[in-house]
Amino acid sequence: SEDVSGDLREVLYTKEDIDARVAELAAAVDADYQGRDVLLVGVLKGALMIMADLSRALSGQYPMDWMAVSSYGSGTKSSGVVRILKDLDTDLTGRDVLIVEDIIDSGLTLSWLKTNLQSRGASSVEVCALLRKPEALKVEIDVKYVGWDIPNEFVVGYGLDWAEQYRNLDCIAVLSEHVYS
Ligand code: PRP
Ligand code: MN
Ligand code: MG
Repeated sequence: SEDVSGDLREVLYTKEDIDARVAELAAAVDADYQGRDVLLVGVLKGALMIMADLSRALSGQYPMDWMAVSSYGSGTKSSGVVRILKDLDTDLTGRDVLIVEDIIDSGLTLSWLKTNLQSRGASSVEVCALLRKPEALKVEIDVKYVGWDIPNEFVVGYGLDWAEQYRNLDCIAVLSEHVYS
């Protein structure tokens, strides 16, 4: 398998950094929801790593379900118009829901998703995102748990892809411009 280190400009967070931060997020979630039945909703595909690690760092039972969504419209990245490619199997009526995301970029996907899940009768819908890009946000969005705020640069690894590549890196890194220009 090819060495991808030349494709990365800078490692922002190592596996150890991520493990430590995810443990802190899990402790906060456990403390906030103690005794409640919380459904974790992962957003495919980017959230797969954070879901796997966060869920195992939590204490007690946290059922999980998955959605796959796709933004379309103008052709450029997030348009805010979202299509459900795979819906939840779970009825949300009266449920406490915690959406698990890898990154909030424009915030448009998550903003739509929160509203959508709330409209299904959930008791609460909160968000845990490992990364957020404050400079890229296009909508105000209340996020209960954030791993790190990062600069507005293209990052890959730990579930985050560029053209479906680099998701399996165990670190989070800035992609070199030569890869996509
Ligand atoms: C990425 C990321 C978030 C979303 C954030 O997913 O995983 O889900 O974009 O963008 P936004 O805040 O601008 O809406 P992507 O659409 O690339 O799909 P993927 O998770 O399958 O990679
Ligand atoms: Mn995603
Ligand atoms: Mg992607």
